[in-house]
Parts: sequence; structure tokens; C-alpha cells
Amino acid sequence: MFKTITGNKASLRLITLNDATKYKQWVKDEEVTKYSLSKWQKLYTPQQINDWLNKIVLEVNSINLAVIDKHSGDVIGHAGISAISQANRSGEYFIFIGEKSFWNKGIGTEVTRLVVDYGFRALHLHRIMLTVSDLNAGGVRAYLKAGFKHEGIMRDASFRDGNFHNKIVMSILETEWQLD
Ligand SMILES: CC(C)(COP(=O)(O)OP(=O)(O)OC[C@H]1O[C@@H](n2cnc3c(N)ncnc32)[C@H](O)[C@@H]1OP(=O)(O)O)[C@@H](O)C(=O)NCCC(=O)NCCS
Repeated sequence: MFKTITGNKASLRLITLNDATKYKQWVKDEEVTKYSLSKWQKLYTPQQINDWLNKIVLEVNSINLAVIDKHSGDVIGHAGISAISQANRSGEYFIFIGEKSFWNKGIGTEVTRLVVDYGFRALHLHRIMLTVSDLNAGGVRAYLKAGFKHEGIMRDASFRDGNFHNKIVMSILETEWQLD
């Protein structure tokens, strides 16, 4: 049973089908989706978003959370861990702050710390990884600040705006996280 996680700026709760309205706004903004998961590049219509949400709320190897602005109570994004492997005690972190006015306020860094903490503490993961476009300087900076380490480069792993570019692989291990 997931209990809401509360930080200083944002809180996290399980995503619900009612959150679809926000996603329908965010996918229309290319600046928001540009460096996001490739699947976001393929969600255009309200029906596609409903289908996607219906699918992810049932996923057993992922945790999908809505990011809530603590001040207004509004849903401003989506974060979580996918590809959770019980055998390897590993998973892949993702984040998407759909409301652009909330960028560069420290929320991405805080949410990353909260989700990583949940992954190590509640899910007992050993390793959490992520991939980020090398053009996504804000994302890279937020992940480094949250404690992720640079692990390697996936050459030409992303195709955006007619060009291939590299993706950076980052990870953090439970031994690098302060669990008290
Ligand atoms: C990437 C994202 C999660 C970052 O979240 P955020 O709340 O904006 O991040 P934070 O405010 O915690 O930290 C961003 C840091 O990057 C810096 N930064 C932002 N844009 C930058 C740029 N173009 N160049 C260099 N640094 C930049 C900020 O100054 C800040 O660092 P500082 O605190 O040392 O000043 C958010 O912008 C987002 O969701 N974007 C759209 C979707 C996306 O890209 N998802 C990630 C896919 S891997």
C-alpha cells in the first residue's frame, strides 16, 4: 500500500485515471516532451493518453507517481521507477514535469531524491539507473545534484528534430544512499 510521500516543495501519490486531463495538455507542448521518454512522442490524442494511463496503472513492475505542487495542490508532473527487477533489485528512474512554470525551482532535484529514497527504502532496490539526453542540461544537473553518478554514454541513442544524439547513462547504488 503506497502512502503519499511529502517533500518541501512537492508531494507524490499514485497516478490515477483522473490525471489524464493534465497529460492531454502537456503532450501538446513540444518543449515539454522533447527530451522525455520516447513513448511521449507517440501520445497525441486523448484516446491514446487514456489507453496509456489505463495500461500503466496496472503495471506490476513499475511505480507511477503524480507529482503534486505542495502550494497549490495541482498535479504538475509524473515520476517513478520502471523496469523493476526483483531478481537484480534494480529499476529505472524517470521524471517528467509537465508544467513548465515549475522548472528550475528545485522540484526535479527534490522529486528525484524522494523517488530514489523510496526505491531503496521501500522497494529494497540495490541499483537505480536512468538515461538522459546529453542536450538536457537541466535534467543532467538535477540528477547529479540528487546523487546520481555518470556511468557511460549510449551513442546516437536518441533521434529528435531530425538528428541523432547521445544519451547519458547515470546510476546510484544503495550503498551510496544515506539510509538511517
Ligand atoms: C528535467 C527536469 C526533470 C528538471 O527538473 P527541474 O525541476 O527543472 O530541475 P531543478 O530545478 O531541480 O534543477 C535543475 C538544475 O539545472 C540547471 N539548469 C537548467 N537548465 C539548464 C541549462 N540549459 N544549462 C545548464 N543548467 C541548467 C538549473 O539551474 C538547476 O541547477 P542549480 O540548482 O544548480 O541552479 C524538468 O525540467 C523536466 O521534467 N523537463 C521536461 C521533461 C524531461 O526532460 N524529463 C527528463 C527526461 S530524462
